[in-house]
Amino acid sequence: MKVCVIGTGYVGLVTGICLAEIGHDVVCVDKDEEKIKMLLAGKCPIYEEGLKELIGKNIKRKTIVFTTDLEGAIKSQEIIFICVGTPPLPSGKPDLASLDAVSRLIGKSINGYKVIVNKSTVPIGTAKRLKKIINENLRDDNKIHEFDIVSNPEFLKEGEAVNDAFFPERIVIGAESKRAIDLMEKLYKPLIEQDFSYAQNNAAKKDRIPVIITDSTSSELIKYASNSFLAAKISFINEIANICERVGANILDVTHGMGLDSRIGSKFMKAGIGWGGSCFPKDVRALAFTAEEYGAEANILNSAIQVNNYQRYKIVQKAMDVLGIIEDKTIAVLGIAFKPNTDDTREAPSITVINKFLELGADVRAYDPVVKACPPEMDSKAIMAPDAYKAAEGADILVIVTDWNEFINLDYLRIKKLMKAPCIIDGRNILDKKTMTALGFNYRGIGV
Ligand code: UDX
Repeated sequence: MKVCVIGTGYVGLVTGICLAEIGHDVVCVDKDEEKIKMLLAGKCPIYEEGLKELIGKNIKRKTIVFTTDLEGAIKSQEIIFICVGTPPLPSGKPDLASLDAVSRLIGKSINGYKVIVNKSTVPIGTAKRLKKIINENLRDDNKIHEFDIVSNPEFLKEGEAVNDAFFPERIVIGAESKRAIDLMEKLYKPLIEQDFSYAQNNAAKKDRIPVIITDSTSSELIKYASNSFLAAKISFINEIANICERVGANILDVTHGMGLDSRIGSKFMKAGIGWGGSCFPKDVRALAFTAEEYGAEANILNSAIQVNNYQRYKIVQKAMDVLGIIEDKTIAVLGIAFKPNTDDTREAPSITVINKFLELGADVRAYDPVVKACPPEMDSKAIMAPDAYKAAEGADILVIVTDWNEFINLDYLRIKKLMKAPCIIDGRNILDKKTMTALGFNYRGIGV
């Protein structure tokens, strides 16, 4: 089927590649010429395992093209995916400017029946909003320009986005039109049946993917509620970890004991410095905002945000407990990306922690296996070290912020010799307290 994907960020690019790989004719559009040039050269503007190879393969097979010509793509393709950013405004409300601009252009360009699919995470009620904007911008050329809106949220985790796209746990289709729903089920048929070459001999292949057909508003809420639930689960565990520290319990044993209950499960039960990224912070704030906008309570949502914000300052507090005065001390920070296996630093805990250490007058040396440049939101006084050992050299304390595997396997005896004092604050509990203490470190984790 003929598909247009508008926006080549994490969601748009992965969605476009997935649809091309399962056999569709995909046109990916972005207004950023540099990004389109990179993609046409087979380069990948984002760090996602397996994506670069799939881009090259589908360019070669001519199942995917990249262009800046949005109007042309809307006219030539039948199913139009909107995958543009909806970043949070200061109030927490998502900024829908890009979404509205694209909707207006879709209205002006429609030249036959189209299914407009909203993949971006958008506020509840956006499908109705899009319909209104498109209708207002339809050309008055005395032709009937029929279209339907579908909400089809993504559930991609950064660092695992390719796998999440090909082997999703569910496909949610929210629409008020049977014609659109039938077309979407036809589009996703190979994915639902897991019948495509990339799935062959792939351990992640599932038997069949469940499809939820609902109205657009419920579909939009499934996305927000899922992310908010996961974020609240993490904040809950972090609150339990903080209680563990007071009562002398061990969060690793507590979460193990809890997670064996199948109603709780063992995933997203890792206590630590808390959540960051382009989704959880934005989505929980947006859902809380929407709840309040519609006069509903958002107590748990707001508490999850509050606990998460507090968690980052706990790390700074722990450093102050060890160092006393932070001023003029040297602090090594391991990890800048908001989580491992990605280069994304959006709302990363590292930014809050490093900026606070610098504000308190410390010298900070930061190292990340993938993030090499100081993120724009990070105080540029932070020194980017080429490796963990260089970061640790002469440090009064070493703080682990991102749970990269690389940090588990460092030579900590060598780290200890390089440091001024053998103090470690493990913001992700990736090291074993007994082992680190036996090596002579003053080791502090979260709830351990
Ligand atoms: C999330 C959702 O998982 C995904 O379904 C949705 O489509 C997009 O948002 P992502 O933000 O990429 O994906 O990362 P995720 O792996 O969910 O982690 C989010 C944050 O939670 C990270 O900062 C991570 O460090 C933190 N986290 C995760 C914990 O602190 N503890 C955990 O146990 C798991």
